Amino acid sequence: MNHLNFAPIVIPRKTKVITTSIKKAAFYLSKGEVVAIPTETVYGLAANIYHENALHKIFEIKERPFYNPLIVHIDAIESLSKVAINIPEKAYVLARHFWPGPLTMIFEKKASVSNVITANKNTVAVRIPNHPVTLELIRKVGAPLAAPSANPFGSISPTSAKHVENYFKNKLDVILDGGPAAKGIESTIVGFKKGQVIVYRLGSVSIEMLESVVGKVKVIKHSTKDPIAPGMLQKHYAPKTPMIMSKNPLRTASNLLGKNIGLLVFIQTGATSDYYTEVLSCNGDFEEAAKNLYASMHKLDSMGFDLLIAQEFPNAGVGKSINDRLARACKKDTNFTPNNIFI
Ligand code: TXA
Ligand code: MG
Repeated sequence: MNHLNFAPIVIPRKTKVITTSIKKAAFYLSKGEVVAIPTETVYGLAANIYHENALHKIFEIKERPFYNPLIVHIDAIESLSKVAINIPEKAYVLARHFWPGPLTMIFEKKASVSNVITANKNTVAVRIPNHPVTLELIRKVGAPLAAPSANPFGSISPTSAKHVENYFKNKLDVILDGGPAAKGIESTIVGFKKGQVIVYRLGSVSIEMLESVVGKVKVIKHSTKDPIAPGMLQKHYAPKTPMIMSKNPLRTASNLLGKNIGLLVFIQTGATSDYYTEVLSCNGDFEEAAKNLYASMHKLDSMGFDLLIAQEFPNAGVGKSINDRLARACKKDTNFTPNNIFI
């Protein structure tokens, strides 16, 4: 009983943002809201491609430059014709081999695709994510979903619903939880020029895997003067704590006395160390390391170190993609202009 003579003040409890309800996520997307979705690579910030306002909201929430285009996520190869035209035969070969999966392909866009998605370019990036929850969601919504990774522009990508909540809890109503991302680093991005496959972003599908299906591919070197692909900003995927790369983090750390250092290493060496260490794979497996990479970076970044030292990976297979992410995470300055960001 309330001994005072008025009704107690009821503070409304904010409903939980993280949900496993595909129906709820589909409802919010259908009414033009942005919803965080799981994929096998990283979590995405999704909007229905036919809701122009929702597309704009993605850029606002992420604080992403408007000239950096979004990837369109579809549920089946047949849906490609909703967004792309003049699809090369090699793209079908790759699609049949890697979709659903972590391969994004760049096509000529269909005129009806919003310029907000493509940043006024005449191309569109497309993939089928390999995640049952998101595939069902796309079918329920009845439209493709445009989604960049669900992190503020330039920061570490999220591989769990919790990571997304930590970034955006006041900006999103719905984060659809599909468990930890199985692959852990972003999709590989390819395009096609004169029948040749060009790799613009290294990712979860390695160069070796692509070449086993379509023969020699051309990898764009982003350090050259070539116009570079989006996603190829020199500084990206970065923790707030300064980070450097080293072939031997333990040795590098021992030369830096007086600093509070956290280590990010590929394999457990067995040697006991004076430093807090995140080990990415117990048995030296690139896929396992990729899966753990961002979660370990998020953790290290929250622990208040002065400096993080990441171990350089062997430069083969997915190890190459991991080195690419680590190198960008270590870069000091954001180094881009609207002119060098596109293919
Ligand atoms: O694994 C992934 O690709 C994740 C999940 C959510 O699918 N998405 C992702 O999105 O990494 P985002 O926006 O963080 O990176 C996609 C990259 C961007 O750098 C963007 O510039 C590039 O793809 N991109 C999108 N459309 C493009 C286009 N038409 N031409 C060239 N690059 C494009
Ligand atoms: Mg991203």
